[in-house]
Amino acid sequence: MLQSRRFATAKFPSETFYCYPTRQFPSKRPRLSKMAQVTKINVKTTSQKYLIHIGEGLVKNLNQILNESGSSERHVVISSQPIWSIHGSEIQTALGKTDLVLIPDGETAKNLNTIATIYESLIKLGADRSTTIIAVGGGVLGDVAGFAAASFLRGIRLVHIPTTLLAQVDSSIGGKVGVNHQLGKNLIGAFHQPIAVIADPLFLQTLPRREFRAGLYEIVKYGVIASQSLFTQIHDGLDQVFDRKPEVLSKIIAESCQIKADVVSKDERESGIRRILNFGHTVGHAIEAVTEYRRFRHGEAVAYGMLAASYIAMKRDLFSSENHAALFSLISQMGPLPSVSDLSISALLKAIHRDKKIIKGKLHMVLPIRLGETTIVNDLNETELREAIVTIGVPKGR
Ligand SMILES: NC(=O)c1ccc[n+]([C@@H]2O[C@H](COP(=O)([O-])OP(=O)(O)OC[C@H]3O[C@@H](n4cnc5c(N)ncnc54)[C@H](O)[C@@H]3O)[C@@H](O)[C@H]2O)c1
Ligand SMILES: [Zn+2]
Repeated sequence: MLQSRRFATAKFPSETFYCYPTRQFPSKRPRLSKMAQVTKINVKTTSQKYLIHIGEGLVKNLNQILNESGSSERHVVISSQPIWSIHGSEIQTALGKTDLVLIPDGETAKNLNTIATIYESLIKLGADRSTTIIAVGGGVLGDVAGFAAASFLRGIRLVHIPTTLLAQVDSSIGGKVGVNHQLGKNLIGAFHQPIAVIADPLFLQTLPRREFRAGLYEIVKYGVIASQSLFTQIHDGLDQVFDRKPEVLSKIIAESCQIKADVVSKDERESGIRRILNFGHTVGHAIEAVTEYRRFRHGEAVAYGMLAASYIAMKRDLFSSENHAALFSLISQMGPLPSVSDLSISALLKAIHRDKKIIKGKLHMVLPIRLGETTIVNDLNETELREAIVTIGVPKGR
């Protein structure tokens, strides 16, 4: 049962937060006894066709997947120390002898200095146009290594092995790669599709709970924009999802990847339908920006953004109060979000106006019309935006 009217217009209870358990999961990758089922999803963009491989223990078959994807024999793995120390040995065993470049991890290292160190390593290693870069890590690592692959020698092959939930269902698919500039996030980048994506849910066993949850909000987003059944699976099976059973994760990861693959296959450069992936991101990006990307994981800010957009849709009678309540109750049950009670509405509105969602002076927003379907409106007004921001817990009038 999804509906819960009680929540329809309640404020999100954000004040009680910051109680994240740190590591509830083993810091060593669990050993595999069997090869589980593999799902392959096609991505067909104008620039590249490739497969997303999803399955428990896939990494054992890495060489075979690389061969089938048209990779060269020459690989350079790019990862970071924390990720490599947990998952490196398995990848190393599967690949055999390979060159490895370790770079600093985290959003603060997502910049052109890190790119310069990658170029230097690639040159010293004698990498050439036949080299394939294998990016092993979360979204930051994938975006950075991907941008190095897009630009080194005007572009070399790239394989993503995403190790966070967000990277498995979102950032490794679709070819957006890039780094931040001091003056803004993701300002420097390119479209560079990988030749393969290899998503193994076993990597997620070692992910801190907060990171896991941050990725899960993007899966909720896919449910709202494209699949009521995905939304219901998470809503009704939240405990099993948080148990991280690989077979449960494989299923929701595959469905999410299918949705993103379908969207980017139709619109590689985000001129049309790809914009539906921005559901929750108008207010989400603004929350991240006004808190200087320090307080929120991206997915957490998107969770607030989805609630705000859903509220606007409900007030416009586009989205039922039952569906809004269902989204609210799911996000509430997923756990605490960092507080927004000290943020200022006017700062958030300014950040929204600076963001890319204004086309020819009009503010666009993706709004849900039912679970699994959205519409894009271009006549959003400040009053309704303010009201929606207040409902997520930002104080009125600041
Ligand atoms: N290219 C795109 O289309 C796209 C889409 C969405 C987001 N992004 C980008 O993705 C980035 C966020 O990515 P993220 O959420 O994956 O964060 P992240 O890459 O910063 O990873 C989060 C943390 O988890 C650690 N980690 C990674 N894998 C682990 C594992 N298996 N076990 C334990 N720890 C692990 C990392 O070391 C890091 O500390 C942002 O920079 C965002 O801009 C890009
Ligand atoms: Zn996002």
